[in-house]
Amino acid sequence: MASEYIYLKTVDSTNAYASKHISKTNPQGIQVYYTFNQSGGKGQIGREWFSGKDQNVSLSIVFPWKNVKVDQNIKILMIVSLAVQAAVMVLTGVTPKIKWPNDIYHEDKKLGGILIQNILSGSNLNYSIIGIGMNVNTKRFPKWIPNPVSLTQITDQDYELENFARLLSSAIIQYLEIRKTQNFKTTKQDYLKNLYKYKTEIKYKDKKGVIKWGSIHDVNDNGHLVIKDSDGELISYDHGEIGLLF
Ligand code: BTN
Repeated sequence: MASEYIYLKTVDSTNAYASKHISKTNPQGIQVYYTFNQSGGKGQIGREWFSGKDQNVSLSIVFPWKNVKVDQNIKILMIVSLAVQAAVMVLTGVTPKIKWPNDIYHEDKKLGGILIQNILSGSNLNYSIIGIGMNVNTKRFPKWIPNPVSLTQITDQDYELENFARLLSSAIIQYLEIRKTQNFKTTKQDYLKNLYKYKTEIKYKDKKGVIKWGSIHDVNDNGHLVIKDSDGELISYDHGEIGLLF
């Protein structure tokens, strides 16, 4: 079944819009909701997401699953991150990294973010709502955003947003479909290979606010980041429990 693309002239959040649509219609096929004018974008762990009118791409892919267990959600997050990274490389020549768990980084700055919301049916996944916010043509960001960067700031080019949104979505859909037929194998190795600061020395603030040195050792089956600290001890962190310091 072909994917359906739905352009929204303006919307508060494509993820929220997609979620309402699923509960009303239970779509059987893949749908992509996209806009260049998102007014109330949602970020990870309850944060706000800046979209900037007519500058950037905000989209949500409604992806229905069949016979996929809930515990594959970490693999799905990894596949989407890899797909976004690959699509950005093909579309722009920029080679970003994935910052755990699923930020898209160029050097030490954030180029894009991913927010996946899963709808379950017992122990199976029913739908994933895969939200992507990509900083494409923004020239100047508001001051409250910690360390943003856009593609145009990196390459000095403006990108056609419609084309960008469609190609980015189709790359994600293809990655998910192919990797599902391969039973998600090699996903973690591929993710680690493309992980920002993997196995290099990092400075970070831990759960108690203590500043430490260590290196990224792994991402475990729960999707937690495993750090080897300077005493050689392995400690795992959930999202929001650790902050990298630059
Ligand atoms: C993050 O890094 O915090 C995740 C940002 C995800 C933003 C996208 S934009 C499209 C979709 N709709 C939303 O409200 N959020 C996601």
